[in-house]
Amino acid sequence: MNGELLVLESKEALTEAVADTFVIAARDAIAQRGTFSIALSGGNTPKAAYALLADERRTAVEWENVHVYFGDERCVPPEHEDSNYKMAFETLLGHVPILARNIHRMHGEDEPAHAARAYAQLLIETLGDPPRFDLMLLGMGPDGHTASLFPGSDPLTDDDRLVRAVYVEKVKSHRLTVTPRVVNHARAVTLAIGGAEKAHVLREVLHGPQEPLKYPVQIVAPIDGKLTWLVDRDAAAELAS
Ligand code: 6PG
Repeated sequence: MNGELLVLESKEALTEAVADTFVIAARDAIAQRGTFSIALSGGNTPKAAYALLADERRTAVEWENVHVYFGDERCVPPEHEDSNYKMAFETLLGHVPILARNIHRMHGEDEPAHAARAYAQLLIETLGDPPRFDLMLLGMGPDGHTASLFPGSDPLTDDDRLVRAVYVEKVKSHRLTVTPRVVNHARAVTLAIGGAEKAHVLREVLHGPQEPLKYPVQIVAPIDGKLTWLVDRDAAAELAS
């Protein structure tokens, strides 16, 4: 298995661990380089952690030095209920003193291929080529997808592009996603995984053969970065104790 696995006793403990990971990574990055660049994950798992960062942990982060990006986005307008940006804004970004110019959302409202090219250019201009995040927060679906790298999808072919526009048959919609090239250049990647519905696939992912086309989350292997799996007890239920 790549990286460090931490099993948390409950969903609440997982939430705290994700929020603490954000706080510590921000403190270290700002101390060393003056800014903290993070790619947020979408989905449900991180919502409670984002809310905690906007509330109890709010004063623990120097928000004026934080730059927020996204690992993936649904191809919908920012006000659409499916938008990862909307979720992050409503739980976190709209409640902390982060500078609006430091929030870098993927333009899900634009033509997908154009939006992907534009975001790749933004990443290069702000984080270098290849772009290097201080922290990428990722989740894992019950099918082993991460970001919007879904089983069998072509973004798994590691190529020069940094952001891809993909049509995901499973959800019958277009998505924007960073590619493995971006994920694996991060200084740190934290996967936050909770719920019994993830238990079987997590065992296959961590203890089964390397099959990244089947389980895209297996491509997560930072080249020169720290990988942490934060998993609650329910999701860890099938892992060897
Ligand atoms: C998204 C996410 C996606 C998510 C997983 C897990 O856009 O939905 O980027 O990759 O992390 O689907 O989602 P849950 O946290 O809701 O289980």
